Amino acid sequence: MESKDPNSGRSYGIPETIDDRKALDKFISGNAGKKVIAVQGLGFVGAAMAMAAANAYRGDYAVIGVDLAAPESYWKVMALNEGQFPVKAEDPKVLEFYEVARKKKNFTATCDPHAYSLADVIIVDINLDVQKNPKKGKSFDVDLSGFRKAIVAIGKSAKEGVLVLIETTVPPGACEKIVKPILDKAFQERGISKYFLGHSFERVMPGPEYIDSIQNFYRVYAGIDEGSAQETEKFLKTIVRTDQFPLTRLHSTTASEMAKVLENSFRAMNIAFIEEWTEFAEEAGVDLYAVVDAIRKRPTHRNIMLPGLGVGGYCLTKDPLMASWSKKNIFGSKAGLGESEHAVAINDMMPKHTFDAAKRLAQGNLKGKKALLYGVSYRSEVGDTRSTPVGMLYDLLKKEGCTISLQDPYLTTWPEKNVKVEQRIPVEGVFDIIIFCTNHKGYRNNKALQESIMGMKRCIIVDSVGILDKGTIALFKAKHSIKVIGRGDI
Ligand SMILES: NC(=O)c1ccc[n+]([C@@H]2O[C@H](COP(=O)([O-])OP(=O)(O)OC[C@H]3O[C@@H](n4cnc5c(N)ncnc54)[C@H](O)[C@@H]3O)[C@@H](O)[C@H]2O)c1
Repeated sequence: MESKDPNSGRSYGIPETIDDRKALDKFISGNAGKKVIAVQGLGFVGAAMAMAAANAYRGDYAVIGVDLAAPESYWKVMALNEGQFPVKAEDPKVLEFYEVARKKKNFTATCDPHAYSLADVIIVDINLDVQKNPKKGKSFDVDLSGFRKAIVAIGKSAKEGVLVLIETTVPPGACEKIVKPILDKAFQERGISKYFLGHSFERVMPGPEYIDSIQNFYRVYAGIDEGSAQETEKFLKTIVRTDQFPLTRLHSTTASEMAKVLENSFRAMNIAFIEEWTEFAEEAGVDLYAVVDAIRKRPTHRNIMLPGLGVGGYCLTKDPLMASWSKKNIFGSKAGLGESEHAVAINDMMPKHTFDAAKRLAQGNLKGKKALLYGVSYRSEVGDTRSTPVGMLYDLLKKEGCTISLQDPYLTTWPEKNVKVEQRIPVEGVFDIIIFCTNHKGYRNNKALQESIMGMKRCIIVDSVGILDKGTIALFKAKHSIKVIGRGDI
């Protein structure tokens, strides 16, 4: 089996058996006297959290990142050990922290669960997915089997007195009703009784403030009991700059778990809310950007959202559903969280609005048209394509018979679609349709990009993210057909 690094294109053969015991023991003896942190899961959250721990604000840790020897993840372990950080992001601190950890030799990555037996603190940063449309009659489901397996692996080898800190976004109730019973049973079988279990969700934002969103930001936490809450607090105080960003302790792990999915559901609903107003503004000939700007002057209304292509990323697209699932499946309620579920349904369909705008400008005929999408990532200044709303737009254009070129300064490929992405701006060539899909700063006031578009024959331009300023819009309008989502005045 192979595992391919989507950044470098390099393939790694996955060995049949993983045994890093000797290497890990050597790593520990090279870091004698240091507390050991194991980070389970080296994705967008875990890789950065491992760097925050290896460069702890207060404390000197030896950090072991652990991931699975699977095609989607083995490359992350190999890349991290060979000098390549697996996430491409704008924040220079990521690479600084990574370089310091490599120089200090206080970070290593492995697929060997032996790591858990060496750790004083185990941070769980693995994915826990929501399956959309899993089978007829069910619009979504949460499969806990991978999460359970991960906790079982910890229970099998963690040492007595370990702090297990759950950072993965879980259905409220998970620490008490899923994690604790697994750990209790596993530890009892091994004749161990004492461990600490805490929950503290991540608010990490891969992008320009990737590290600061861990180290310099407010945190919520809770423990399964008083001792666990205290241990969690003690640990977090070494990672987070709590002098400037004090921690908030909640009264139970379920409350802390609920805080995570509620804050993301709030945001998802806020975005869904603006969708019908986007349509209204366009019908009424109104610039919704100007309207929102005016409303934002009220301190109580500063977080009203702007129009856009849609919602992407790993969190807002699933967390409201995970909360609703918990209400029914963990707490036995007949009714889920209907409004939150509805918000996800609206957001999931949002890219159709941009597609419809492009199709209207093309007089209903997209067949054979050459489309160029500027931006594939779901948010600016990072290469993260998970659940990107560009996915639906891409599929709809393809279905209508368009040929599609893609550009994103943070990507070379789009792994979910297995297609190439051009990194350079502008993309050379002649296109019938150009759609701005991501708010990357490289597209803003970019003279070369403007010139390339002005050099094309008359084409269709759709700005779905409000990246074009008034001057650029006027320039393009003189030659091309242009539509800005949420601006009925153009
Ligand atoms: N991405 C974000 O911006 C963000 C922000 C806040 C919270 N979160 C939450 O943090 C969690 C992790 O998210 P992510 O974006 O890092 O996900 P990810 O998919 O990028 O990474 C998860 C990693 O965990 C690994 N993994 C799965 N099971 C494992 C196991 N048993 N042992 C070791 N590794 C295992 C996977 O192989 C993968 O590499 C999720 O619950 C997510 O909702 C994410």
